[in-house]
Amino acid sequence: MNKMSMELADQGQRRMAWAEQSMPVVRDIQERFAKEKPLEGMKVAACLHVTAETGVLMKTLKAGGAEVRLCASNPLSTQDDVVASLQQHDGIPVFARRGVDRDEYYKHIRATLEHEPHLTMDDGADLVQLLHTERRDLLPGIVGGTEETTTGVIRLHSMAYEDVLAYPVIAVNDAQTKHLFDNRYGTGQSTIDGILRATNRLLSGQVFVVCGYGWCGRGVAKRAAGMGARVVVSEVDPIRGLEAVMDGFQVMPMREAAHMGDIFCTVTGNKHVLRMEHFARMKSGAMVCNAGHFNVEIDLETLEEQAVERRTVRDSLDEFRWEDGRLLYVLGEGRLVNLAAAEGHPADVMDMSFANQALSAEYMWKEGKQLEPKVYAVPEDMDQKVAAMKLQSMGMQLDVLTPEQETYLRSWSMGT
Ligand code: ADE
Repeated sequence: MNKMSMELADQGQRRMAWAEQSMPVVRDIQERFAKEKPLEGMKVAACLHVTAETGVLMKTLKAGGAEVRLCASNPLSTQDDVVASLQQHDGIPVFARRGVDRDEYYKHIRATLEHEPHLTMDDGADLVQLLHTERRDLLPGIVGGTEETTTGVIRLHSMAYEDVLAYPVIAVNDAQTKHLFDNRYGTGQSTIDGILRATNRLLSGQVFVVCGYGWCGRGVAKRAAGMGARVVVSEVDPIRGLEAVMDGFQVMPMREAAHMGDIFCTVTGNKHVLRMEHFARMKSGAMVCNAGHFNVEIDLETLEEQAVERRTVRDSLDEFRWEDGRLLYVLGEGRLVNLAAAEGHPADVMDMSFANQALSAEYMWKEGKQLEPKVYAVPEDMDQKVAAMKLQSMGMQLDVLTPEQETYLRSWSMGT
């Protein structure tokens, strides 16, 4: 091992230890796993953003007795020091490198499957998709899977609907202790972090357009408003649109918002939310970024074709010049800006997401063989337990109902 790679591995180890300090729930699970070894004999293929927090999760699964392999769920989200540390200090095979092209990205997913896993742990369902197309020979050995994100869960539901999903998968994203915190506060903070690192611009007073008002959009809008931006929301769903209005934001179609915005952030999970008709209306200096899972939300192909010049201004910031002289800026190549230009969600929220992942892996190893090939919710008691553990770690205590209140809640005969 050369000195540089050792230094990189040591840096990754220090960053993982720092993240672990803010992951008390995962730490607790790791301690129990180390004693009980509930994952003994299980081979895991994980396809996640390779961050310090993911490193802590991988070590937790290994402590539980699992044989783990990891690859990246996005070409631009990998933290190379974490890769080096997991490989060199923890003996976990990792197939990932920041900035890989599409071919290498899929090559890494294929390599992760080579140890013939029993469990898939996915973020976006690229691993599951590859398994169901190229590596169907491995399907009989799979006991179950877990899925981290909204986009992945939507893909899995469409596989189940078309009757092609071959094994049970737990939708970790749908746990309350996941999306209410990770998607909202995690994406909220880390997206602003990515925008600031890429641009070093002042948000105060800027018109900040949030495209999509799901849990991630709500978080981004709230944090942008907190920084003093004037937030505009575009939505297609009337209930979400109404919620955005009542949360204090202006709601309008993107065609109208296009000429007003200083910063645009897509968080819809859909394709071409920002496209030529919008670029054509944007003012010079407008900045566009994406915090949705895939890099499809901004039509970058058309942008590249139509612009007369492109140059990289600083890390994670590309400038496009139109024929009429207007300038448009794209952050993080249109990939998840919070991971491409910053470090992803803070460990404090990944603690809950990854506690659900670790407990779901344990549940699948115990129960997976009895389950139908469908998409499953995280068991309610598991979700509650993660919340209770997190609250306890924060030194917060809940109140309890009196016997009189319990009786009242059960009775239908008592009114006023
Ligand atoms: N997704 C968003 N932030 C993340 C993080 N810090 N680690 C892993 N996956 C993430």
